[in-house]
Amino acid sequence: MKTDDTPLRAIRPASDAAVEIIDQTALPHTCRIARLTRLDDVARAIRDMQVRGAPLIGVTAAYGVALALTAKDDDDTLDSAIAALAATRPTAVNLGWALLRMRERLAPLPAGSRAAAAWREADAIAGEDAAQCRRIGEHGLGLLRPLATGRGRLDVMTHCNAGWLAAADFGTALAPIYAAFEAGIETHVWVSETRPRNQGLLTAWELKQRGVPHTLIADNAAGALLARGRADAVLVGADRVAANGDVANKIGTYLKALAARAAGVPFYVAAPRSTIDFSCPDGDAIPIEERHGDELRVVRGIDATGQPAAARMISADEAVLNPAFDVTPARLIDAIITERGHCPATAAGLRALYPEARDV
Ligand code: MRU
Repeated sequence: MKTDDTPLRAIRPASDAAVEIIDQTALPHTCRIARLTRLDDVARAIRDMQVRGAPLIGVTAAYGVALALTAKDDDDTLDSAIAALAATRPTAVNLGWALLRMRERLAPLPAGSRAAAAWREADAIAGEDAAQCRRIGEHGLGLLRPLATGRGRLDVMTHCNAGWLAAADFGTALAPIYAAFEAGIETHVWVSETRPRNQGLLTAWELKQRGVPHTLIADNAAGALLARGRADAVLVGADRVAANGDVANKIGTYLKALAARAAGVPFYVAAPRSTIDFSCPDGDAIPIEERHGDELRVVRGIDATGQPAAARMISADEAVLNPAFDVTPARLIDAIITERGHCPATAAGLRALYPEARDV
């Protein structure tokens, strides 16, 4: 994606056995590039959410394996790198998907040839992810375009950040929105803040770079806006789609799906193949990450001088529960949009798009 006419990606390999990422913990105030040179850097970047978003987590993990094998490429290094990366975050299945693909590609190779192959495979995963997200944009536009006809404009509500910052490029839920905007449809996006990590601010930042009109709302405003007909559709990403069409996504997604259904507003989920877990029967089987309570107790931003600053809102001993994701049942989802088209959120719908899928 371009920001101020500068092509930017959330991750890119550097020339000298390193990868560069946009440090998303510094956004939306500073677009800072961080260099990762070791497996530990990558594991920490994923865990601390310097990189985040399901597709991007998978791509980053693949580069993490490449970095580990660049240092030493024996079986133990491969196994321990995959184990360390797999333990970073539990919900986004793209992580396990990318690591399985790296293992299947690299394990049969003799030591001595694995590092170069690992970089090639990580590049391939990144390239495929970008291409898939572009196609999600095209297929999603097919659903959004009719909603704009009549009123002559399109108001879409989204949650969290499922844009190019969350993928190798283009994004998942934001890809159809960018496609609509670029197709000349008058487009406006309701961006929910997404407490506690405020990924909605990343979405606002992305949309601003591209000049897409948008309005930031408190998470709690979404239901009222939907009830008053202020959105034509809700479009979100996914961290894991179960085989029956249930979807895990950022906490708060479920409430939007309930409100959308009550208001008769279509609710769409956009995700690439790497987010669909055919081995997971339904949403009850999806592991939900619980993160540190300080994400609620402490707010972060910049102070009046522009320096990073934190403010404690409540004492450290206050009990907090901080689930990072929720599950939206398939019955509340009008369609799942993938790089192959869109389908009903059902086992049969997903199978029709991916007849070759294995249950692993
Ligand atoms: O905790 P995060 O920021 O890594 O959450 C994942 C997400 O970005 C969202 O849930 C998103 O909607 C799906 S990933 C494109």
